[in-house]
Formats: sequence, C-alpha cells, structure tokens
Amino acid sequence: MKIILIAAIDLNGAIGKDNQLLCHLPADLKHFKQLTQGKTVIMGRKTFDSLPGGALPKRRNIVISRQTDLTLANCEVFNSIDSAFAACKSEDEVFVIGGENIYKQTIANADVLEITQIGARFDADAYFPTIDKAIWTAVNQEEHPADDKHAYPFTFITYQRSK
Ligand SMILES: NC(=O)c1ccc[n+]([C@@H]2O[C@H](COP(=O)([O-])OP(=O)(O)OC[C@H]3O[C@@H](n4cnc5c(N)ncnc54)[C@H](OP(=O)(O)O)[C@@H]3O)[C@@H](O)[C@H]2O)c1
Repeated sequence: MKIILIAAIDLNGAIGKDNQLLCHLPADLKHFKQLTQGKTVIMGRKTFDSLPGGALPKRRNIVISRQTDLTLANCEVFNSIDSAFAACKSEDEVFVIGGENIYKQTIANADVLEITQIGARFDADAYFPTIDKAIWTAVNQEEHPADDKHAYPFTFITYQRSK
C-alpha cells in the first residue's frame, strides 16, 4: 500500500488557520479531486469538521478520532492511525489529506508527497511538517501563475522518498 500525503502549503509551510484553508485556489481543488477520486482518503477529525459538505463524494472516507462513540455519515471512524491503515491494507494507495496532527504522525511512513506550493505567506495556526530535501526528491513540478481566479501563484510538486 502506497501512502501519499497531499497538502497545499504556503512559503512558511502553513496549511490552515481557524480550522480553514489559507486561501481559495479553484485549480488546486480540481487537482485534489482528480488525484483522490475513487481512492481512499484518511483525515483527522478536525479536518473532517472543516469540510463544508461532510464526507468527500466518490471516495472512501476514513476519519481518525480518539472519541470512541463518534459516528459520521458516509465515513469510517478509527481510533488510531495504525488501525486506519490496517483497514486499507488491500488498497493500492491511500491519500492522507490532513491536518497538521495527522501529517506529522504519518510523514515518516509516507511514500509520496503531493504538495501544492502556494507562492505567498499567510497568518496561520497549522503547519505541514518540514519536507527534508535529504529524504524527499521533487520528481515533477507544474507551475501556475496568479490569474483572475487565483490570487496567488502556485506549483504542484510531487516528491518521492529517496531514502
Ligand atoms: N492546506 C491543506 O492542504 C490542509 C489539508 C487538511 C487540513 N488543513 C488544515 O489543517 C488544520 C487542521 O489540522 P489539526 O492538526 O488541527 O487537526 P487534524 O489533524 O485534522 O485532526 C486532529 C484530530 O485528529 C484526531 N487524532 C489525531 N491523532 C490521533 C491519533 N493518533 N489517534 C486517534 N485520533 C487522533 C483527534 O480527534 P479527536 O479530537 O476527535 O479525538 C484530533 O483532535 C485546519 O486548519 C485545516 O484547514 C489544511
């Protein structure tokens, strides 16, 4: 099972503020949908709470929470990251979609990082772990300038683990 972390991060490595994303980039949402549709997504309970429409459609949604009585529509809830991954062992790949807590606890076991690097800095309270370039090699990059729908430039970067 390949573990892929997917995140949009600013130039400080920030990912969110007040349980919301930092900015609205429609092309990034489309990119996220293209990569994750038909796949399994694993998220922390706070990231689930931030989703405007609840579980993401056309994906197997897994939410991690320490609450033992939590049930969420169209989601499987697990009380540990290990038990969530164990439930996915027959899958080819799973996408870890945040937030800070869950990225921090899974990056050591990740195979690929799909990062949207936003060319700006925001006031934030949630961060992606440091991407150590001794461990992670950028194997693909796609740059997008700012335009009338995107207030900031951004680059889709795929990192693969090199050791
Ligand atoms: N930019 C991006 O790509 C992106 C993507 C996703 C999220 N975000 C942002 O990230 C922020 C949220 O991150 P966060 O760190 O506050 O929350 P989070 O990682 O989404 O969720 C944290 C929650 O997950 C559960 N949890 C964490 N570790 C666990 C473990 N080992 N075992 C069992 N349950 C565990 C706990 O839920 P309980 O409290 O229910 O026990 C914990 O409160 C928001 O600002 C959001 O917008 C950004």
